[in-house]
Amino acid sequence: MKLTGSAHYSLFLLSSILGLASADNSHLKDDAPCVARSPTSGMYFDLRAISLAPPELKNGKQVNKDDRGESWHAKGHDYMANFTLNICAPVIEKVEDVVGVESSLWKNVSAFYERDGKIYSIGQQASDPFFRGRKLVLNYTNGSPCPDDFNTASSNSSVRRKSTIMSFLCDRDALPNQATPSFVGTMDSCTYYFEVRSSAACGGIAVDPNAGGMGPGGVFGVIMLIAVAAYLIGGCAYQRTVMHQRGWRQCPNFSLWAGMFDFIKDMFVIMFSSVGKCFRSNRPSNSGYTRAGSDSRGGFIGAIGGRGGGHGGRRDVDAENRLIDQLDEEWDD
Ligand SMILES: *[C@@H]1O[C@H](CO)[C@@H](O)[C@H](O)[C@H]1NC(C)=O
Ligand SMILES: *[C@@H]1O[C@H](CO)[C@@H](O)[C@H](O)[C@H]1NC(C)=O
Ligand SMILES: *[C@@H]1O[C@H](CO)[C@@H](O)[C@H](O)[C@H]1NC(C)=O
Ligand SMILES: *[C@@H]1O[C@H](CO)[C@@H](O)[C@H](O)[C@H]1NC(C)=O
Repeated sequence: MKLTGSAHYSLFLLSSILGLASADNSHLKDDAPCVARSPTSGMYFDLRAISLAPPELKNGKQVNKDDRGESWHAKGHDYMANFTLNICAPVIEKVEDVVGVESSLWKNVSAFYERDGKIYSIGQQASDPFFRGRKLVLNYTNGSPCPDDFNTASSNSSVRRKSTIMSFLCDRDALPNQATPSFVGTMDSCTYYFEVRSSAACGGIAVDPNAGGMGPGGVFGVIMLIAVAAYLIGGCAYQRTVMHQRGWRQCPNFSLWAGMFDFIKDMFVIMFSSVGKCFRSNRPSNSGYTRAGSDSRGGFIGAIGGRGGGHGGRRDVDAENRLIDQLDEEWDD
């Protein structure tokens, strides 16, 4: 039966929607690289937008001209050195002869400065931003040895090494994929503190970007679908049990929907017939516009009701006039 079919379909729709919504939660991953989830707002902060990758080269030419050929820079001001750093990734610049760092780790340097022609690493690559309270933080460790420890053997594992801590600040006016690091300071040339302003630090992603889940639009769509399913199921149940309707009449507001469908159909008829009239305007007119006689309203309804074709003209006119009277009565109420 059509009815149970549509009811089954609605149930299926509803259950799949609910399944989608609940399954979505279990797919969330907080450990995606360079993504952090705020424990207070539940928002995901995706720093991959400001994580620079080396420009892709093809036959020595840059493929994407938007690629930056260099990492982010921060002026050192009174520190007497400028800083170069990348977010979640090694710096794009080729760094060599890094003070006190094994050559196999040079390619993993994520932040450095240059002084007296020597390159000092202030941290090896890391990609685990996290929240400390409301602050989004990323740190790099294992840079060059700190000054006090510099004279002890660099192979000694207890040597203290330079590290970097970055605090991300939301800047809605910044261009997307843009980061502006500012050097805040260092107390003992061992830990370096930066503030990074970027629109990537504004969050706003409600779900894990890796989960392929729903955005706000998807959530709204699910709510709409649930509302429609509830309307269909509840309406059918009401029409069936209370109003004792059967067949298509079980559908809630069947007459309303049927009327709407008829109206749209009639509009199409009007459009196509008027287009047709343009092409055969010299034909003697016996079309719907004159069928209801001099009554202008009848002419309109006649045009709407033009689906009957040429036969039964008189009966159509009577039916139309009755319809108009009925409409008039309803209008007067
Ligand atoms: C840092 O960069 C600025 C320009 O951005 C330059 O004027 C200054 O000399 C640099 N400082 C050092 C120590 O290289
Ligand atoms: C260095 O970076 C490479 C990728 O560039 C990575 O596979 C490797 O694990 C990193 N090594 C360390 C010690 O972080
Ligand atoms: C540095 O980041 C790691 C996670 O990558 C975290 O476990 C550690 O506590 C952080 N250290 C500091 C000093 O914030
Ligand atoms: C490392 O240095 C500490 C002192 O800073 C010393 O006590 C220790 O013996 C050294 N270890 C090695 C393996 O050299």
